[in-house]
Amino acid sequence: MATLLYVAGARPNFVKIAPLLTALSRRSGLEHVLAHTGQHYDRELSAEILGDLELPRPDHFLGVGSGSHGAQTARALAACEQLLLEVRPDLLVVAGDVNSTLAGALAAAKLGTPIVHLESGLRSFDWTMPEEINRVLTDRLSDVLLTHSPEALDNLAREGVDGSTVFLVGNTMVDSLRRFEPNARERETWRGLGLDRRGYVLVTLHRPSNVDTPAQLAAVVRALVGLAGEAEVVFPVHPRTRARLESTGAWSTLVDGGVRCLDPLGYLDFLSLQLAAGAVVTDSGGIQEEASALGVPCYTLRPNTERPITISHGTNTLIGDDPAALRDVRIPAVEPTPRVIPLWDGHAAERAADVLESFLARSLARGRAA
Ligand code: UD1
Repeated sequence: MATLLYVAGARPNFVKIAPLLTALSRRSGLEHVLAHTGQHYDRELSAEILGDLELPRPDHFLGVGSGSHGAQTARALAACEQLLLEVRPDLLVVAGDVNSTLAGALAAAKLGTPIVHLESGLRSFDWTMPEEINRVLTDRLSDVLLTHSPEALDNLAREGVDGSTVFLVGNTMVDSLRRFEPNARERETWRGLGLDRRGYVLVTLHRPSNVDTPAQLAAVVRALVGLAGEAEVVFPVHPRTRARLESTGAWSTLVDGGVRCLDPLGYLDFLSLQLAAGAVVTDSGGIQEEASALGVPCYTLRPNTERPITISHGTNTLIGDDPAALRDVRIPAVEPTPRVIPLWDGHAAERAADVLESFLARSLARGRAA
């Protein structure tokens, strides 16, 4: 019997890990332990996400909470170390690029526990992003690197990563999307909000580069109010963005300017809004991917993306970091066509599970021989 420990902490981690946990749960001889670091703890970012994804209740809550990057990562590191000593897994699974991802990987590496990194090899080449630091370091520490696009293979090869540890399996976030698309479609969350199908622009913005400096935040607010003069704009506001908007007094400017500001939404409600949106404006990584898979035009308010496949094969347009560029957002007159991106087919987790099953078989055989 081999034990896998999954460490997740922020909303997108759960969306990526859920299909892998489901796929591996169908295989025999494996025990699964799910730990929630508590990096995200608000109901919509945590409990509702777990329920929407039909994940089992985590076996461990580490209660890490918010804080500066150093403090948050350090608390997660110490808590993951304790947990690893208790559970003694044969494999640690981490996903994505959040502080909890790096903390889990670092704790495991120091204890000699093999690490799997799901969504490995993405690079924005922008070292000012906390996520870029987390990606590069987590990849460096990992023993099995699961990637979702060919660019990731090139990035890892350039960094000298041993190619025999890297596997192109596809995108498990799209596995979640395809699995829950029917439920999300049925919800028609847009209807409950009094919106017309394809009649609104869906906005999410939470990156420090867009919301942490007052000048950039003010420019974002001006641009969104301008956009609301052209189309219905719906904005589920992430807690960090809301805190910044409230502390700078910009919240009322946005609301008085006609932007429909909502509390953050659970996975199904947000997917439902994406499915029927006319266009999406975001600075999130995962939403560039989801909008591409759905064929909905996506305008990314960033100067770079670690997901160039969403531009070459999807619907993503990088509009740079000047929010004034939102004046170019358009809702197309025709219905969107979902884009075909190789291996973003809803079956990535099965391929990942095959890789992990053989990795475990090899390392258990080595352990027996030693
Ligand atoms: C984190 C990830 C980011 C990811 C995002 C997804 C890092 C470095 N960043 O950003 O890559 O795109 O999650 O949502 O790990 N807060 C709450 N309630 C919560 C969580 C956060 O109020 O449940 C507030 C707190 O004020 C906190 C702030 O949001 O300080 C930022 O939270 P944090 O987890 O540090 O980063 P995110 O911005 O959520």
